[in-house]
Amino acid sequence: MCGIVGYVGKRDCSKVLIESLSKLEYRGYDSAGIAVFEDGEIKTCKARGELANLVSKLNNEGGIKGNCGIGHTRWATHGEPSDINSHPHGNANVTIVHNGIIENYKSIKTRLEGKGYVFQSQTDTETVAKLLDYYYKGDPVEAIRKTESKIEGSYALGIIFRDFPDTVFALRKDSPLIVAVGEDEAFIASDVPAILRYTKDYYLLEVGELATLKDGKVSFTNLDGEPIEKTMLTANWDEEAAEKGGYEHYMLKEIHEQPTAIRTTITPRITDGMPNLEECGITEDMLRNYKNIFVVACGTAMHAGLVGKYVIEKIGRIPVTVDVASEFRYRHPIITKEDLVVLVSQSGETADTKEALRLAKKKGAATLAIVNVKGSSIAREADHVIYTHAGPEIAVASTKAYMVQLAVMYLFAFELAHAKGTLSEEECKRLTAELCEIPKAIESVLSQKDNCQYVASQLVNSENLLYIGRGLDYALSMEGSLKLKEISYIHSESYAAGELKHGTISLVTELMPVIAVATQRELFDKTVSNVKEVKARGAKTYLVTHSYIRVDDDVADYTIGVPTVDDLLMPMLAVVPLQLIAYYTSVLRGNNVDKPRNLAKSVTVE
Ligand code: F6R
Repeated sequence: MCGIVGYVGKRDCSKVLIESLSKLEYRGYDSAGIAVFEDGEIKTCKARGELANLVSKLNNEGGIKGNCGIGHTRWATHGEPSDINSHPHGNANVTIVHNGIIENYKSIKTRLEGKGYVFQSQTDTETVAKLLDYYYKGDPVEAIRKTESKIEGSYALGIIFRDFPDTVFALRKDSPLIVAVGEDEAFIASDVPAILRYTKDYYLLEVGELATLKDGKVSFTNLDGEPIEKTMLTANWDEEAAEKGGYEHYMLKEIHEQPTAIRTTITPRITDGMPNLEECGITEDMLRNYKNIFVVACGTAMHAGLVGKYVIEKIGRIPVTVDVASEFRYRHPIITKEDLVVLVSQSGETADTKEALRLAKKKGAATLAIVNVKGSSIAREADHVIYTHAGPEIAVASTKAYMVQLAVMYLFAFELAHAKGTLSEEECKRLTAELCEIPKAIESVLSQKDNCQYVASQLVNSENLLYIGRGLDYALSMEGSLKLKEISYIHSESYAAGELKHGTISLVTELMPVIAVATQRELFDKTVSNVKEVKARGAKTYLVTHSYIRVDDDVADYTIGVPTVDDLLMPMLAVVPLQLIAYYTSVLRGNNVDKPRNLAKSVTVE
């Protein structure tokens, strides 16, 4: 999704804006642009495609020299990716960058056209720029206030006015924006990695607040101009944590960071060998009383919910429904005050998940967010939040965030089951101790990357692929399949192994490799029968199972073994080869692993 940056200080503003935008590339974008004051005039440069295109255009045009400006990476929603549709938008008087969607832009546009305004782009954003221009009569805050009262939808806005050549204004609603301060300099950005090179100190801008960046300082007011005191936060990530750290891609780095991410996430939530989520406001008393649990999320985060469902239902004996957030919102779900709705999100800004949270709150259900980004909208709006401590996840394809979402799901399930009396203290301690051993076991899986590279080399020319599994292995296969398709662009589907013969097996030929996951020992023989069925129809088969298990050649062409832990916890180990297979297949196909086509890291529109 779009990224916003802004700068006021003494440095070369164009350089700062480009550098900061490069740290937001992970959000996904298709064009970029900056607007900087040069000799009191707003100079704009924008280009379709990668940031490098913007940089060469800037160089060809002699650059823009100044110390105050705004920048943007755009992920097209209204109008195709093009130079004209790229941000910033505006005219010589007022220019803006925008993240989000203006829902009522058509009616504003018609009104402004009636007043003589001519629009150049197809974007919703340009209507905001023109509306600001319309209301501006010498007082920028007044123009912003009037504009804000007329626009509907979601937005984070960076605004500059020609009459104020050393000032950046910023406000937001439903799209994230931070305001950072360094020594005699100030920044705005959509996310923390953008500013880490310059400072770690930042504020979270809230709805209804206006930030004014001037003379290297920042002040906050409400839209009536009354001052607001805010608490400064300090990022605990350094720039290096947001860089590749020697790995070829962020995705590979993040896969290798999983053991550390799990340790950081679970260690503070274990007391005397028992899960303890009290620091997140979750007590055993609360957990005992819920009638139903809904897990609502999108994509990979939803897949973490599917694993959670199996685990919670198995040991906690409480019904769990997992919903795709975009469906949940509109399916009139039956939720009551006695239910708990769990929202899972790496970014904490996913539009559908956020709206699902609001719906759950409206219905009176208790809400719990499992979120990675501190201070994100979902984290702030939910009744309770368990932060996953994965650190910044830059690759679009989620790996370590999924892993820590699983870790939190397990801790939550153990504590809930113990609270309900369906899991003895002894069993709870045993499972918690096994969870603590997972990071070490993952390290040993990571050391087998050659096996995954080999499987990738076998899959690289495939056009279609099937993943199969039963129970937890099925939930996990869904994540393996998503990972492969999103970065390798090979079409793949995940099926419950027992469901194949009800239709899908007709697709199976020698051109359809099958990856089977069989870590659930009570279901092992049944899954193996299904693997034999596809093998008998010509499919090449790859099996992920416990490393001590040996299978005959009539089952698997190639087996990847992972260490044995309690079957309940096996998804945390079995997902790693699936992540690596997806990664290496994408690399072998020459794809842009970290920024797959058409995808954005944070989906802040519906
Ligand atoms: C896939 C992936 C997406 C996200 C989904 C939800 O690798 O990353 O499917 O999981 O867009 O995003 P968050 O977790 O930020 O709500």
